[in-house]
Amino acid sequence: MRSICLQYLLAFGFAFGVISASAPKGKWDSFNFAPSSKTVYPTAIHSTNGSVKNADLLVNNKGAATLSGNGSWLALDFGGEVGGLISLNFDSVTSTSALALSFTESPTFIRPTASDDSSYPAENTTFDGVLRVTAPLPKGHWAQPANALRGGFRYLTLVSNSDAPLTISNVSCAISFMPHVDDLRAYAGYFYTPDDELLTKIWYSGAYTVQTNTVPLNTGRMVPFSPPGSWANNATLGVAGPIIVDGAKRDRAVWPGDMGIAVPTQFVSTNDLIPTRNALSTMFAAINPKTGALPESGPPLSQQGSDTYHAWTLIGTYNYFLYSGDLDWLQTVWANYTKAVAFLEGKVDSTGLMDVTGLRDWARQGGGGYNAEGNAILYKVLTTASELASHVPNTTLSSAWAQNATALKQTFNTAFWLESAGMYRDNATTTLCPQDANSFAVLFNLTLSQSQKTRVSEGLTVFWNDIGPVAPELPDTISPFIAGFEIQAHFEAGNATRALDLIRRTWGYMLATPLSVQSTLLEGFTANGSLAYRWYRGYNNDPSYTSHAHGWSSGPTSALTFYILGLTITAPQGRTWSIAPNVESSLSSAQGGFTTPLGWFGVQWTTSSKVKDVLILQIDTPTGTSGTVKLPSGAVKGASKYVVDGVPTRYADGQAVEIQLRGGKHTVVFQK
Ligand SMILES: *[C@@H]1O[C@H](CO)[C@@H](O)[C@H](O)[C@H]1NC(C)=O
Ligand SMILES: *[C@@H]1O[C@H](CO)[C@@H](O)[C@H](O)[C@H]1NC(C)=O
Ligand SMILES: *[C@@H]1O[C@H](CO)[C@@H](O)[C@H](O)[C@H]1NC(C)=O
Ligand SMILES: *[C@@H]1O[C@H](CO)[C@@H](O)[C@H](O)[C@H]1NC(C)=O
Ligand SMILES: *[C@@H]1O[C@H](CO)[C@@H](O)[C@H](O)[C@H]1NC(C)=O
Ligand SMILES: *[C@@H]1O[C@H](CO)[C@@H](O)[C@H](O)[C@H]1NC(C)=O
Ligand SMILES: *[C@@H]1O[C@H](CO)[C@@H](O)[C@H](O)[C@H]1NC(C)=O
Ligand SMILES: *[C@@H]1O[C@H](CO)[C@@H](O)[C@H](O)[C@H]1NC(C)=O
Ligand SMILES: *[C@@H]1O[C@H](CO)[C@@H](O)[C@H](O)[C@H]1NC(C)=O
Ligand SMILES: *[C@@H]1O[C@H](CO)[C@@H](O)[C@H](O)[C@H]1NC(C)=O
Ligand SMILES: *[C@@H]1O[C@H](CO)[C@@H](O)[C@H](O)[C@H]1NC(C)=O
Ligand SMILES: *[C@@H]1O[C@H](CO)[C@@H](O)[C@H](O)[C@H]1NC(C)=O
Repeated sequence: MRSICLQYLLAFGFAFGVISASAPKGKWDSFNFAPSSKTVYPTAIHSTNGSVKNADLLVNNKGAATLSGNGSWLALDFGGEVGGLISLNFDSVTSTSALALSFTESPTFIRPTASDDSSYPAENTTFDGVLRVTAPLPKGHWAQPANALRGGFRYLTLVSNSDAPLTISNVSCAISFMPHVDDLRAYAGYFYTPDDELLTKIWYSGAYTVQTNTVPLNTGRMVPFSPPGSWANNATLGVAGPIIVDGAKRDRAVWPGDMGIAVPTQFVSTNDLIPTRNALSTMFAAINPKTGALPESGPPLSQQGSDTYHAWTLIGTYNYFLYSGDLDWLQTVWANYTKAVAFLEGKVDSTGLMDVTGLRDWARQGGGGYNAEGNAILYKVLTTASELASHVPNTTLSSAWAQNATALKQTFNTAFWLESAGMYRDNATTTLCPQDANSFAVLFNLTLSQSQKTRVSEGLTVFWNDIGPVAPELPDTISPFIAGFEIQAHFEAGNATRALDLIRRTWGYMLATPLSVQSTLLEGFTANGSLAYRWYRGYNNDPSYTSHAHGWSSGPTSALTFYILGLTITAPQGRTWSIAPNVESSLSSAQGGFTTPLGWFGVQWTTSSKVKDVLILQIDTPTGTSGTVKLPSGAVKGASKYVVDGVPTRYADGQAVEIQLRGGKHTVVFQK
């Protein structure tokens, strides 16, 4: 029986033969967006103008091209998002030859006169300008100065700035992100389904996006911003590098809210957590010693005054500890961590709710006073703080925080549940039900019943158009950041079909639209899909300022691992784990996993109504760990027994199943 199962699995190309500290090789590797070398060359010519000879020879470094005449230009396409320093050779120059370089993520802003914006959002879309290499040009090799780094672009336009002909060759970009890693494609995790290429592609797109946001310490955006016509990315970003920032092109600063999505992505894909530790250490080092307030963003931006982003540093501390098991680090920040929790608890008054006064947030409007989003995030802070305290250990503190969480949950429901809407309202003086608080309420388990979860999940779909949810709390905006939490809320509510619908809709749009880079993920966009994200809210109607590689938009990557494979860890490093796959009807199988310091965690499930084995679940976890396989009632149909490693148990159709397992390889087969 067992060997038949294994043969069956091998026929599906199951890859558990390879157990190592990294993901097994397979078909999924062809979806990996990361370049195979840290020196990348243009892969195509996007366009030329004026007198340009042999432009094609610059593709993949085949030869030299000549620009003749002032203003002639050629636009190179690197084939996907890249970031780093350009170098090239000046093969033939005169004393007056001069060159300008302009960079852009979106092809919309390929222009000989300006890059897309990163220093500052200006309505004219041309704040940054070009990088000039003035006469006399050096003969031979030239490299872009480090302070003029562009951290994210797909297109590079080279413009002749004089009448004299100019011959250039050997145009390349030295990738600057992930400075501590040689092989950018060597992931610690993977995800694959044979039934929908888009989902696998989205998983890898999120992983690569976070890689492009993992940067050397001294490559932050300069503050005060570089003057008009320029940019500078040579600022120091924190206490140690490499460090995780919000975006490749900009802001190039630590933003703890963004990490609420980006770090789970990092965990399931590269397991490269040091940049996260460096970012969190940076935030704790910058705590206000008097008040206990944490900054909203890292240096040199160092925005202050955000209760929610303060809270995200605390939630991020839990995520980092859960993924890494780094207790030594937790203890070094513990005094500041507890002070920072107390800062938020100090804002809870006799109403039992936090009065949000630090209003900065992910750009949403409102958010002040007794606000649902802020209090939902506080609930997550308290439940995770309670868990962290049990590891420190400080049991008194652990139970005090747990008690306050329980009380907050009750008060939250009394204050914000709007029975007529079947959703939570933003605050007590509105009937507006926001996307963020409702997603968090389900995801963080503020709901008191399954029926509330179901109604909120259904209610959220009212905001959807063809390309995603238009957030009521930030009109005319689709936020892939908040949508990343919404996906998880639909899974938590038990509707995987709806979660996949949202992933395909919004991430399918981002990867397909010719406005973007078809590799990494947009920071946000308007309800009609235009790039003018936040045009009326701080971004001065500048669509060229929008980032096309923002880790906060990578929500599906961890969601596919945590919910479609159903693989999560429930104790640091995965000493205990849970496998609760969503056997969703549009997929016949899915596989993948991740690596922690304890080893490889892998899951594959395959389903078929045509053969005897209606569901085969293959599990591989490190020796010494233990976990639970969970399938809710209704997850498996048409089976009369399930067989765990050859041992059968009777199964009533539709029954919920919970199986305790030790680490190692296991097969669970549901049979007719
Ligand atoms: C293209 O070149 C022509 C003349 O060579 C010039 O008139 C035109 O403005 C250029 N267009 C752009 C977009 O540079
Ligand atoms: C674009 O607008 C910015 C901000 O208003 C200004 O500083 C800059 O000079 C403008 N650029 C051009 C080329 O007009
Ligand atoms: C090249 O053209 C630009 C824009 O028309 C002009 O400002 C510049 O002076 C010209 N350079 C030379 C060397 O003719
Ligand atoms: C071409 O550029 C690379 C950097 O990408 C440099 O190492 C190499 O020396 C250059 N080749 C020549 C012939 O100058
Ligand atoms: C960064 O580069 C700018 C020039 O673009 C320079 O003025 C500044 O001093 C540099 N800052 C640091 C910290 O090196
Ligand atoms: C904790 O906060 C203090 C300021 O109150 C700061 O000096 C110290 O560096 C912080 N400790 C850590 C580990 O970040
Ligand atoms: C209450 O919520 C509404 C809707 O989001 C918002 O317009 C208002 O500003 C909020 N109140 C406060 C104090 O933030
Ligand atoms: C637990 O934390 C509280 C508050 O920070 C502190 O007063 C107490 O000493 C701690 N207890 C232990 C056992 O560390
Ligand atoms: C729990 O909540 C009460 C009431 O808001 C507060 O006084 C207390 O400090 C909180 N406890 C902790 C450990 O934060
Ligand atoms: C969610 O909260 C309920 C109590 O309202 C509790 O019974 C349940 O265990 C919680 N679920 C999780 C996953 O923590
Ligand atoms: C799940 O979501 C889909 C798509 O939104 C919907 O058609 C279906 O009715 C939902 N299923 C349940 C059980 O609510
Ligand atoms: C899309 O939305 C933006 C922002 O609201 C608006 O400026 C633009 O005109 C819209 N485009 C189309 C084609 O409707």
